[in-house]
Amino acid sequence: MQTVLITGANRGIGLEMVRQYLASGASVIACVRDTARAEALRALPHQDRLSIEQMDMADFASITSARARIGDRAIDIVINNAGVAGGAKQGIDDVDLDDWHATLNINTIAPLIVARSFKSNLAASGNGKLMNVTSQLAASTWPMGGMLIYSTTKAALSKVAQVLAIDWKNDPITVALMHPGWVKTDMGGPHAQLTVEESASGIRAVIESMGKADSGKFYKWNGEIHPW
Ligand SMILES: NC(=O)c1ccc[n+]([C@@H]2O[C@H](COP(=O)([O-])OP(=O)(O)OC[C@H]3O[C@@H](n4cnc5c(N)ncnc54)[C@H](OP(=O)(O)O)[C@@H]3O)[C@@H](O)[C@H]2O)c1
Repeated sequence: MQTVLITGANRGIGLEMVRQYLASGASVIACVRDTARAEALRALPHQDRLSIEQMDMADFASITSARARIGDRAIDIVINNAGVAGGAKQGIDDVDLDDWHATLNINTIAPLIVARSFKSNLAASGNGKLMNVTSQLAASTWPMGGMLIYSTTKAALSKVAQVLAIDWKNDPITVALMHPGWVKTDMGGPHAQLTVEESASGIRAVIESMGKADSGKFYKWNGEIHPW
């Protein structure tokens, strides 16, 4: 049975990925910053294959604590999904520097801590896959100003993933990046193009199709390659 670990799993794209992986027969480790706000996870079918772990991406010790509780079991797929938009002040003249630092921790550094904490679990699967959910706003090819905090912290996440892909080239782990589309969630808003079902099923299909030769690739939810 496939084992999948997903961060930011209590709502949005993360919650839908949990729902779909459970429906597909997988065992899912759903990581949430506040287990008291995991009602939607607890209402899903297939609770026998779901475990809920506390993991706050702003608190790196909580990541290593979760790893200690989970132990050495093989994990086939880790999805670094948790992320934040970075607050209201993201212009050149008004950017909130405290929000920038806090968002760098959550969007960029925490995914690296997750990756290295669960590296041996991924390797133990023999064909581990680490998917990092970034954004088209991270791409140098995306012509959009403003959003300084979000775009720079996601661009840095993309570089983290590229470094992991290169430095883990001899490990049985595929590292990739995903733009999930513009999705109707709290972050994407009601006017976004995609439903969570469409985005999550596309992300799952890409992960399923990936092999070691794909390490370092930047995908869109529909399987196309996103230009860097
Ligand atoms: N929606 C889009 O259009 C879109 C587009 C491009 C990229 N993305 C990316 O896709 C991913 C999922 O986004 P979404 O649209 O599903 O967003 P969302 O609905 O706002 O959900 C964000 C998730 O991240 C979690 N999270 C935030 N801060 C956290 C922390 N410190 N520790 C642990 N979990 C934390 C949230 O948990 P809480 O409930 O505890 O806050 C929530 O589960 C993000 O990385 C986002 O940047 C989204």
